[in-house]
Amino acid sequence: MNKTIIVSNRLPLQITINDNNLAITPSVGGLATGMKSVHEGGESLWIGWSGLTEEDLDNDLVEKVNNAIAREDCAAVSLTQKDLDNFYYGFSNNTLWPMFHYFMEYTAFEGEYWESYKEVNRKFADTVLQHTDDGDTIWVHDYQLLLLPGLIKKERPNTSIGFFLHIPFPSYEVFRTLPWREELLNGMLGADLLGFHTYDYERHFLSSVRRILRLDTHFNEISYQGRTLRVDSFPMGIDYDKFRNAAIAHNKQTPEQKSDLQKRLDAHLQSAPDAKMILSIDRLDYTKGIPNRLRAFEYFLDNYPQFKEKVRFILLAVPSRSNVPQYQLLKKETDELVGRINGKFATVNWTPIWYFYRSMPFENLIDLYTSCEVALITPVRDGMNLVAKEYIATRTDKDGVLVLSEMAGAAKEMNEALLINPNNFEQVAGTLKKALEMPEEEQKERNIFLQQRLERYSVEKWAGEFMKALKATKTLHHVIVSKKITPEIEKQLFNSYQKAGKRLIFLDYDGTLVNFTNKPKDAKPDSELYTLLDNLNRQENTELVIISGRDRETFDEWFGDQGYTLIVEHGVWLKVGNREWQALEKLKRDWMINLRPIIETFVDRTPGTFIEEKNFSLAWHFRKADPELAQNRATELKTVLTSLISNYELSVLEGNKVIEIKSSNVNKGRAASRVLAEKDYDFIFAIGDDWTDEYMFKELPEEAFTVKVGLKKTSARYYVENTESVRELLKGFLNGVRE
Ligand code: ADP
Ligand code: G6P
Repeated sequence: MNKTIIVSNRLPLQITINDNNLAITPSVGGLATGMKSVHEGGESLWIGWSGLTEEDLDNDLVEKVNNAIAREDCAAVSLTQKDLDNFYYGFSNNTLWPMFHYFMEYTAFEGEYWESYKEVNRKFADTVLQHTDDGDTIWVHDYQLLLLPGLIKKERPNTSIGFFLHIPFPSYEVFRTLPWREELLNGMLGADLLGFHTYDYERHFLSSVRRILRLDTHFNEISYQGRTLRVDSFPMGIDYDKFRNAAIAHNKQTPEQKSDLQKRLDAHLQSAPDAKMILSIDRLDYTKGIPNRLRAFEYFLDNYPQFKEKVRFILLAVPSRSNVPQYQLLKKETDELVGRINGKFATVNWTPIWYFYRSMPFENLIDLYTSCEVALITPVRDGMNLVAKEYIATRTDKDGVLVLSEMAGAAKEMNEALLINPNNFEQVAGTLKKALEMPEEEQKERNIFLQQRLERYSVEKWAGEFMKALKATKTLHHVIVSKKITPEIEKQLFNSYQKAGKRLIFLDYDGTLVNFTNKPKDAKPDSELYTLLDNLNRQENTELVIISGRDRETFDEWFGDQGYTLIVEHGVWLKVGNREWQALEKLKRDWMINLRPIIETFVDRTPGTFIEEKNFSLAWHFRKADPELAQNRATELKTVLTSLISNYELSVLEGNKVIEIKSSNVNKGRAASRVLAEKDYDFIFAIGDDWTDEYMFKELPEEAFTVKVGLKKTSARYYVENTESVRELLKGFLNGVRE
């Protein structure tokens, strides 16, 4: 039976060793806590790092650790201390983490880190491959493993691979500063489905793919190496029932059942009739905005002294990545700020901040969530933030106020919370006051909506939707494109070619026989191409036609003496062998004088674009321009031109990074039919890469072998991947079947 494999850097359990005994604790962080519910519910294997290095383990312990991990349906990837330093603390948390959270000043570009990142992703790939069979589904998580989808896809193309990023994907302007940006994007594109928490992260990713890899995207689909993959946003939810039921059970506790922490919390609440508590819980991370929050709290106490001795701020900071210098500095800063604020405001009866720097068991988290009237969550940047959601889920009486940073992914779905800009401490302090004074009715009104949404879009639902979308990607290519030329189809094709009495071959030029270059003039035929075409043209009973949108002059220069049949300007002119050019269509060019200035305004406004004037058409090329700007301008230009051409018999066509205005009577389909009508052919072959070739594919008889270059929507029967495959195919006509 096919399996599901979850892969993340950290396993959901952490193992530590005390006097040769194993201590197992759950991992913290959104990824582990969220996916844990998914893992527990189904038949899956979770692959990741145990929290121990090879150096921590002697032979006796290895087996113990592996057994403990296997009991949880997990398998460990073994990492050395050096891997940990360079891959985990290094590239993952000193390069990607700060950069993806827009902390450019913290981002280190170290070759050594990058080498280790590649090696460790390879180690993960090896472990995954050991446990994987064809047909399995693999779900890779987060920024530590960006190369993994590509590594797996390369060796197991028949597995279905999903990837989810739990942190923000930064804007192109930030991402492009990475020296290894292409490799990372290519690694991610090994997946069949890429998921992000919000549409903004998805949009940033697609923008980087378009601008850095120069790949075409069609809405949220990317054609990549013969596959169509999809990108989408799936905001991660929480295990709603778990938090809610824990809160219900908590509220029924007898005084004896209460934890020590709960007793202390109750004592504060009973200290004054209007005593209240404010809560924040995060890993101690600079993205979480802890110092800003403390300063805002100080400002709040200074400006609203009526709350002194009444409110208590409970700050739970969970130790995290403490080997990274920035985290050490943050710890120092937090300790100092808490010390200073407590020193400034404390009285004999009251300490404004209760600061915990440790991890707490689940029961204590519930104590905190249920006892605090306000949750103050102020990250300066956060992929999602599950704590905000967990707080709301535990409010069984629907009271409590969530103050949440706009910069958290969760803010997109939690509009009823009080949203703040974490850098505006006056606003944070003012909102905190509003939260503490909010009438209970209003609190409930807001929380009803929040809870309904959290209950509906729980973590199970999130995982289910992701898996459903991943499954759906399997059918993607069949829906939109033709069949890939397999060795069997090739064999059939070459046999038909060999057996035929009279053959007709249509070859498009740019993007089919040669690759695109920045300037059209640079895409000259090379000597290998000449030899190939000459050999084909010399074959008996074979008519070789190069059919192109190029102008007559260029083709005269390149192919004038070769003796092939040439059709140019999409079918305006025909040249058979060494004869003169003949016009297939009688056309006017008086419209050019009116439309050219309009296109020129687009050239002026869109750097990198230019106009090509042919005998009977005008083409606006935008291959070299910024892909996003150019695509917007292309849409604009098409709209402008379409409204203007009604006076002429013209049409506006979008080709491969070009918009062309030409007579509506002319197209490659009409021209191909004219050639076809001349003789009786029993083998017809046509190949081309862009939109203008579609006319030819549609016009040719059904039995023709029509082939599209590139995996795109087409009427052709088959497709090949690129110009190299086209040449291989043509060589096959000459040499017969390739073994
Ligand atoms: P991040 O993923 O950046 O750490 P999130 O807020 O998305 O931030 O996720 C934090 C997760 O870790 C939550 O599910 C929360 O319940 C859990 N968590 C936070 N603090 C603790 C703690 N002290 N002990 C146990 N789990 C914790
Ligand atoms: C965030 C990341 C996770 C990571 C977690 C804890 O939630 O998205 O990938 O596991 O923080 O960080 P750590 O470095 O301790 O694994």
